[in-house]
Amino acid sequence: MDAADPAGAVDWAGLRAAARDAVDQAYAPYSDFKVGAAAFADDGRLLTGANIENAAYGVTLCAECSLVSALVMSGGGRFAAFTCVNALGETIMPCGRCRQILWEHGGPELLVDTPIGVVPMTEVLPQAFGPGDLDHVREAQR
Ligand code: THU
Repeated sequence: MDAADPAGAVDWAGLRAAARDAVDQAYAPYSDFKVGAAAFADDGRLLTGANIENAAYGVTLCAECSLVSALVMSGGGRFAAFTCVNALGETIMPCGRCRQILWEHGGPELLVDTPIGVVPMTEVLPQAFGPGDLDHVREAQR
């Protein structure tokens, strides 16, 4: 990745196409709002996810949940670039809970595709709570 232009080195068109394909895998019989997500891992792996709803609405899995499962189950690593789309193929923002999930597995440098362009995760989840907060207290209590 080019340090001066990290977003420029990412195949965003390919990533968006993968997210649009993933929409077809969504299980969204209750909201009828299908979401497809796609990410490149830091080793270049292309990962996808789709939302999986439940009759008990509150336990629905967002597309980002199956995406993070794909990351972990295919060898782990970190998300480097992320996008998600609706059934019209339009870029949408991850919900609040999913921003926290993305932070855990991508951190501040993760590049996020948004309706207003590609931004780092720090703009999507400012002042995030993360693993560093746990380390800080654990070390202070040692
Ligand atoms: N949804 C996602 O999959 N990701 C998001 O970031 C926003 C919301 C899903 C959850 C639910 O199945 C549907 O969109 C409607 O809220």
